[in-house]
Amino acid sequence: MVATLAALDPGDLPAARDLLRASCAHDRAAQVAEEKLFGVSPRGAPVAFAARKGGILIGVAATCGDRVRLVAVHPAARGEGVGSQLLGACEAEVWKGAARRARMLDEPGNYLAPGVDVANVDAIAWLGRRGYIRRDEHTNLLVDVRTNPRVTVARAVELVARAAERGYEVRRARRDEAEALSAAISIGFGGAWPFEVERALASDPPGVHVASRDGRLAAFAAHDGNNRGLGWFGPAGTWPEHRGQGLGEALLVACLVDIAAAHPTAEIAWIGPREFYQRAVGVVGERTFAVMTKDSPFKRSTIPPAM
Ligand SMILES: CC(C)(COP(=O)(O)OP(=O)(O)OC[C@H]1O[C@@H](n2cnc3c(N)ncnc32)[C@H](O)[C@@H]1OP(=O)(O)O)[C@@H](O)C(=O)NCCC(=O)NCCS
Repeated sequence: MVATLAALDPGDLPAARDLLRASCAHDRAAQVAEEKLFGVSPRGAPVAFAARKGGILIGVAATCGDRVRLVAVHPAARGEGVGSQLLGACEAEVWKGAARRARMLDEPGNYLAPGVDVANVDAIAWLGRRGYIRRDEHTNLLVDVRTNPRVTVARAVELVARAAERGYEVRRARRDEAEALSAAISIGFGGAWPFEVERALASDPPGVHVASRDGRLAAFAAHDGNNRGLGWFGPAGTWPEHRGQGLGEALLVACLVDIAAAHPTAEIAWIGPREFYQRAVGVVGERTFAVMTKDSPFKRSTIPPAM
């Protein structure tokens, strides 16, 4: 029996969650099922697919813009072409949007992971056989936040006091600051960061800490803006004129103390300066992700029109 593909319905969410729990050994996809399958990103809302056999959900996939957010097939239903069907449906959406290149997973603002975990060798090979090329790598760092002497409330307080000696106020951001914060981050850093910070601000308590001097924003750090509930840190940024004052470290530790309330380990996503994190809080592990892309098979003039 061939699988039937249809739009994933919000009512499918509990079954999709179970399916992701059984399917995704490398990512905690089940815990963020709603965010990945239905949540918006700066590019808009995703298109999500359900694959069924005999009415049973056996596979799900989602795509948004040029990114394939997720493809998963229940282990009991693999090797029957269902994954290929779902991937093909996602790619058709990408080409409809006239993108020239499809890319797996790392959708700015709403990503399950910043690429395919390099430990997921089967998926990487499977994608390779479907025209995907491994182009780049991103890294996530893992930080112990439960038994780490550099991640304690006392150290957070000490770093806040040290910043105060230099004229900075370091504190948790408030929800009513969303607009101003978003505008400032947009100008200073851009990309998907304002979106993620707004999402982090909506957590309870708000997952954003800020530093300011003379009422002007100097630095910010956020957690759980993407993959809410997984304890992922980022984004974070210090405006250039305020760098080298310990603000990044103070804000990082404040966020990690938040994360420690719910998780033993924090994941610092899609990192830039590895040495900074190593020095500030220590690193107990890391994950590497392959950026995988596939070029459109259509010449520009032959892209099927959007329906
Ligand atoms: C990667 C994944 C989605 C593949 O799902 P799948 O349903 O097994 O995929 P397919 O059946 O289409 O392809 C698997 C193989 O079965 C073959 N196959 C067997 N019977 C088939 C049939 N009737 N029709 C088509 N293909 C068939 C395919 O050709 C393919 O062989 P190949 O890998 O040598 O090319 C699945 O392993 C999975 O869910 N993994 C965990 C989640 C994950 O890592 N996702 C990727 C990143 S989001």
